Amino acid sequence: MKLLITGVAGFIGSKLALAAIRNGFEVVGVDDLSNGNLLNVPDKCQFFQFDLANTDAFINLPSDIDVILHLAGQSSGEISFDDPVSDLKRNTISTLNLINYGIRNNIKKIIYASSMSVYGATADYPVDEETPCNPLSCYGTSKLSSEMYLKIYQHQLPYIAFRMFNVYGPGQDLENSRQGMVSIYAASAVKHNKVLVKGSLDRFRDFIYIDDVVKIWLQAVINDKANNQIFNLASGSKTTVTQLLEKMKVFMPTISWYVSESTPGDQFGIHADLTKLHSYFGEYSSTGLSEGLRIFLSWAEKRIKENESPII
Ligand SMILES: NC(=O)c1ccc[n+]([C@@H]2O[C@H](COP(=O)([O-])OP(=O)(O)OC[C@H]3O[C@@H](n4cnc5c(N)ncnc54)[C@H](O)[C@@H]3O)[C@@H](O)[C@H]2O)c1
Repeated sequence: MKLLITGVAGFIGSKLALAAIRNGFEVVGVDDLSNGNLLNVPDKCQFFQFDLANTDAFINLPSDIDVILHLAGQSSGEISFDDPVSDLKRNTISTLNLINYGIRNNIKKIIYASSMSVYGATADYPVDEETPCNPLSCYGTSKLSSEMYLKIYQHQLPYIAFRMFNVYGPGQDLENSRQGMVSIYAASAVKHNKVLVKGSLDRFRDFIYIDDVVKIWLQAVINDKANNQIFNLASGSKTTVTQLLEKMKVFMPTISWYVSESTPGDQFGIHADLTKLHSYFGEYSSTGLSEGLRIFLSWAEKRIKENESPII
């Protein structure tokens, strides 16, 4: 089977590409390197560098793709306010262009990287897929409108959309201080022994380890029963910011933290109900946060030290 993975030079796309190749899939990748790194693209991936918002560039892509795994996009709520038009192009116009490409080439399905941001402010209970969506950021709005375009064209191009919660793990960008709560805290803990928390320590999230995300996405490629459905993709565990930092402190006992104002469009708290995911993909035990943090922090420490060591 031949997969097209967009955002292949980014955090999740590159991990997915590597796992797909290991599992015997042929992988074609696209990324415009606006945020990704060419070094992340696996050797065996046929790579195309272009902006998916540019319709004309699609002419370069092969037409014999079986399934599209669409992860390219601008992925920070905070950054989406800097330039909402660019966010719309990266997240929605790109998706619409891919839908057209998929229909033109009779592609079997498209799997989409949506986000918990579509829900907006929710009360403190596990959120299921029927919860009304009231996004608080331009990012959440562009992700939700992409889902709606996918729904409109579902009879010509079946889709699966995963509303992913906070994904973390080795491979995350440690230089970007505006994208990814765990990677931001980890990088600043390793570099400065101090973590700046933008917003309340009582906020809560649902953290999912990268390997668990990759496993479900690969299952989705062959699970046609899940077609034309939207799923939460998370661990199902509620963790406050304080609990996250306390868990990090177990591995980095000298770290401390301080609090400043929150960022625009930040959700106060959200965690997922996984009943629907489990009913279509089976029960799975996700990686515990302590275990995931142990692996991630040791990777981050090594990575930052390597980058800071002088070139001899
Ligand atoms: N990381 C998370 O916690 C999380 C949670 C929910 C949803 N998501 C979504 O999952 C996807 C992947 O997230 P990530 O953490 O790997 O982000 P990432 O920034 O590491 O990867 C996204 C990649 O898309 C590329 N890209 C952006 N716009 C493009 C365009 N117009 N054309 C071609 N390439 C483009 C970037 O260069 C980057 O390599 C994103 O769509 C994000 O919104 C991520």
